[in-house]
Amino acid sequence: MNAVDIIVKKRDGGELTAEEITFFVHGFVHGDIPDYQVAAWAMTIYFQGMTDAETTTLTQAMAASGDQFGLHDSLPPGTIIVDKHSSGGVGDKTTLAVGAMVAACGLPVGKMSGRGLSFTGGTIDKLESIPGWSPNLSEAHFRRQLRDIGLVIAGQTSNLAPADKTLYALRDVTGTVPSLPLIASSIMSKKLAAGADAIVLDVKCGHGAFMETLDGARALARLMVAIGARAGRQVVALITQMEQPLGRAVGNVLEVQEAIATLRGEGPPDFQLLVMALAVEMLLLGKQAHSHHEAEAQLSRAVQSGEALAKFTQFVVAQGGDPHKVEHPDALPRAPITLAAPAPHDGYVESLLAREVGLACVDLGGGRHKKDDPIDHRVGVMVNAKVGDAVKQGDPLCVVHAADEAAGQAAVARILAAYGLRTDPTPPLPMVYERVAA
Ligand code: URA
Repeated sequence: MNAVDIIVKKRDGGELTAEEITFFVHGFVHGDIPDYQVAAWAMTIYFQGMTDAETTTLTQAMAASGDQFGLHDSLPPGTIIVDKHSSGGVGDKTTLAVGAMVAACGLPVGKMSGRGLSFTGGTIDKLESIPGWSPNLSEAHFRRQLRDIGLVIAGQTSNLAPADKTLYALRDVTGTVPSLPLIASSIMSKKLAAGADAIVLDVKCGHGAFMETLDGARALARLMVAIGARAGRQVVALITQMEQPLGRAVGNVLEVQEAIATLRGEGPPDFQLLVMALAVEMLLLGKQAHSHHEAEAQLSRAVQSGEALAKFTQFVVAQGGDPHKVEHPDALPRAPITLAAPAPHDGYVESLLAREVGLACVDLGGGRHKKDDPIDHRVGVMVNAKVGDAVKQGDPLCVVHAADEAAGQAAVARILAAYGLRTDPTPPLPMVYERVAA
C-alpha cells in the first residue's frame, strides 16, 4: 500500500477501504506521509466526497491517533457520559449554562472545550474572564472533580486526536475546510476520543455560523449522527439559528455575566430557550429523565432552587476561580469606554449580521487575529435590539464596550452597518429549526 495509490483512487472517485484510510492516517501522524500528499488527499476528498462508511473510518482513525479517555471508572456504574458540542457561533455561551444546569440535575458533565476561532468565541476564553479560573487540569484532577462535583471544563490536551490537528492545519491553508466529511470527522473524532457515550450537537446555521444554509447544516447534522451510530454512540443534533448573535452579550466577560444571569433565571429569552432545548436532550440521552416534560421540570427546578448557580460556583472554585465574581458578576473587569449605536430612524429590526458583530468584537480585542494574540476579556457588545424589535430613532441598538474611544467608534460603525431596519413589522427569528436523530 502506498500514499500515491490512495490519492489516485480517491481522485478517480473510488471508495477507500478501511485499511487504506487507516494506513493514510497512521502514515501522516507518524511522519511517513509528507504534508503535500496529505494536502492533495484532502483536496481529493473535498471534490469526490466520502461515503458514510469512509467518513466513519476516518473519524475513528483520527480519534485513535492519540489519547482516548475512558471516564467510566471515575463515575458510578451505569453512568452515561453525555457530551455537548457547538459548531461555533457569535454570543454562544451555551456550555456555561447548560453544563451547570445538567450537572445540577445529577448528570455529570466532563468536557474539553476550545478557544475562539475567527469570528466565533470559545468557551475557554470566556471562562478565563473569571480571575484565577484555569482550564489546565491534570487527568487526576479532571477525574476527581468529575466524581466529586459533576462538572469539569478543561482545555483540549495536546494529544487529543493529533491526526485532526495536523489535517485541520493543512486544510486551513489549502482551501479544504468546507468539506462535509472533513468537518464531520474533525468534530466527531475529538468527541469520540474524549470518551462520550452520547453527544448532543448544536449545529449552528446562518450568517454567524460555519454552515450558512439550512440544507448545509442538515447535511452536516445527518452525517455526524450517522457517524455516531456507526461508532456505537448516540447522537442527537439540533440545528439552531445563528443569523443574529445568541442572547444579548458578545464578548468574554459580558457573556459570563449573561450565563450567570441565565442560571438565576434572568437570561434573554432566545438564549434561555436554546439552553433548555440542549439541556433537555442531554438529560434524555443520559437517562436522567424519561420525557421531555420531566427533563424540563427538573431543569427549571435546578434554576429556581439556586442549585444550578451553586453548581457553577462549585465548578469555578474547583478550577481556581474567584467565587465572589460569580456571586457578584458586576465586579468582573469592565471596559473603560461604553458607546451606544443609535438607531438611524424609526422602524423594526429586520436583520443583524452575526458575523459582523463577531468580527467587531475581535477588532475590539475580544478575539484573536493571530493564533497567539492576547485577548481583552472586558470588551464586547451588548445587543439591545434584535430581529423583530421595534425601535425609535436614536434608541441604542447596542452598546459597545471598548478599551478606547477609537476602537469603540470603529465597532459602532461596523455594527450600525450590520443592522437592517425596515418600516414594516418583522417577525422574530426562530431559535431551533430542526432536530436530527438516528
Ligand atoms: N470545527 C472543527 O473542530 N473542525 C472543523 O473542521 C470545523 C469546525
